[in-house]
Amino acid sequence: MTDSHDQVRAVAWVDGSLQLLDQRRLPQFEEIMVLEDCKSVADAIGDMVVRGAPAIGITAAYGAVIAAGACFDAHPDNWRKDFKLDLEVLRQARPTAVNLAWAVQRMWEASETLEGDPVPALLELAHAIYKQDIKANHTMGELGATFINSGSAVLTHCNTGSLATGGYGTALGVIRSAWSAGKLTTVFADETRPWLQGARLTAWELVKDDIPVTLLVDGAAAYLMKQGKIQWVIVGSDRIASNGDVANKIGTYSAAVVARHHGVKFMVVAPSSTVDMNISAGDDIPIEIRPSAEVLDVAGIAVAADGAQVWNPAFDVTPAELVDVIVTERGVVEQPDLAKMTAMMV
Ligand code: MRU
Repeated sequence: MTDSHDQVRAVAWVDGSLQLLDQRRLPQFEEIMVLEDCKSVADAIGDMVVRGAPAIGITAAYGAVIAAGACFDAHPDNWRKDFKLDLEVLRQARPTAVNLAWAVQRMWEASETLEGDPVPALLELAHAIYKQDIKANHTMGELGATFINSGSAVLTHCNTGSLATGGYGTALGVIRSAWSAGKLTTVFADETRPWLQGARLTAWELVKDDIPVTLLVDGAAAYLMKQGKIQWVIVGSDRIASNGDVANKIGTYSAAVVARHHGVKFMVVAPSSTVDMNISAGDDIPIEIRPSAEVLDVAGIAVAADGAQVWNPAFDVTPAELVDVIVTERGVVEQPDLAKMTAMMV
């Protein structure tokens, strides 16, 4: 399901196999990888062939289908033992985005009551997870856009679009809906060092979907806000704690602090599969530390002084007090706290 402002798909199940658009190669090359075993799916998630919290959940669901098929073929009477191990490999591929663990858990629970070949039922569930994500994104797009006044400009961070989800996007879904409603004058996108999700992916998606985009280096966002040029910062999330603290791409916290300082509103858009009610506060969210090479090199070329050490957290945590509104497909929570998050999630 695509429309004229939503042309891109990161994940596809075609003729019985899993296809991923290799996001490491964008925007220069649009290459498809075909994955045939569970370990390759986990590696593709870890290496960021596919990335973005909902997209890696969907990918893991299809990885589970592949794993179940292989385990059943090898041991039809005792396939769940190896299947469980494979699911653990998928679950551990990246630690911060809870959508991954959420999807793996759904696949496991569905498998527990199956008899005979598990593939048809699990494939149906993976397709449902995929479709539900796109539907949730459209719902969130409509809900989030109601907060935006006509004539507004917005800033987004990382990539939260069709590449990061089943389609349409979370924060980028709100931006798509607000754009379609004629409310936006300008969409600014942080380039999002070090992996450049903004420059390479968000800009690529928006250009492809005919939505004008203005890129800026991450350090320019504060100056943009000081000049009164944006009304909203709109971001996605990889995990939201039960008190409303939000883990998202490194640099999100800086954007939230600066937004509050300049009276710019801050919106977080994420499906309820991103909310982790088992985590009481952001400090308990595991933060992935990525390889040094992502900082030392750009496109495979060394750009830093030889011998420099690196700290490369992939995510940070924005405290709930800096968030004006969390938008999910279940509804919106303004000035989030435990009571409001609990009321939304029950
Ligand atoms: O490291 P990435 O590219 O997987 O990080 C992605 C993000 O931080 C996104 O903002 C988040 O997953 C929300 S995407 C809908």
